[in-house]
Amino acid sequence: MSGANIVLVEQDGATCLITLNRPESMNAINLEMRGLIAETITTAERDDSIQAIVIRGAGDKAFCAGADVKEFKAAESLHAARMLREPPGWNDVIAACHKPTIAAIQGFCLGGGLELALACDIRISSADATFGLPEVRLAIIPGAGGTQRLPRVVGVGHAMRLILTGDRIGADEAHRIGLISEIVAKENLLQVASELARRISDGGPIAIAYAKESIRRGIEMPIADGLRLEADLATLLTNTADRLEGAAAFRERRKPLYTGR
Ligand code: CAA
Repeated sequence: MSGANIVLVEQDGATCLITLNRPESMNAINLEMRGLIAETITTAERDDSIQAIVIRGAGDKAFCAGADVKEFKAAESLHAARMLREPPGWNDVIAACHKPTIAAIQGFCLGGGLELALACDIRISSADATFGLPEVRLAIIPGAGGTQRLPRVVGVGHAMRLILTGDRIGADEAHRIGLISEIVAKENLLQVASELARRISDGGPIAIAYAKESIRRGIEMPIADGLRLEADLATLLTNTADRLEGAAAFRERRKPLYTGR
């Protein structure tokens, strides 16, 4: 399967649903798919009718088994290899997206698949999910954000163990170490992810984007700088029409109608 079919895009209300669609290869991410994922995220980000993004894998065996190993070959030159990795990479595009991103994970979530999920804001999975960064077993390292994002999500100790051994863990352990926030019945996975996206979309869109920015950028900073960023973003929000609408809706006991202004 090639072309746009390998990344499917649907819209459900204010949610963009992205499906990695190479089930015959466990949704492994080939080079073409990398570009399509980044393009799709960028398009969804620019679309005012989209407020949240859910990413899932097609079929019932895998979210994504990582980069397409069958494409691995010697690089033409080290420079060419480096250019392929010039930031922002596809996962950086996901991580930098202002709109909330949710990974709905079932089955195998390995290598670049886990790195993609780590670039998302929220990860939920079914009980059959298995997670791992097996790269060292292929004599490479997680090179799409894994060595940086995994320790920030689960702590250095768990990340060291997972990355250095390449071991796989199940959903229960992933939940215990904070890699996923929820385990749900497989048949309800998409529904729960969509409902989560919908609940998030009920909030003020600028507030959602700023809350996300405050967490993502703040975690990289000394706390005093993070608190300053938070205060600045909170101050910017005092000027939005949505803030007045939120307060008015509360007083009038009705649902707010946010416009993102
Ligand atoms: N790349 C390409 N094809 C893959 C793949 C991958 N990462 N993972 C699975 N497939 C293909 C298999 O080759 C197979 O296709 P064929 O029948 O045409 O050979 C099909 O998907 C089904 O896979 P299996 O028969 O192997 O199924 P299984 O149930 O026995 O095992 C698995 C499933 C544990 C996921 C196993 O396929 C596996 O270990 N895959 C590789 C996982 C991996 O190492 N991922 C890391 C890649 S490196 C990376 O991701 C780094 C990066 O981002 C830069």
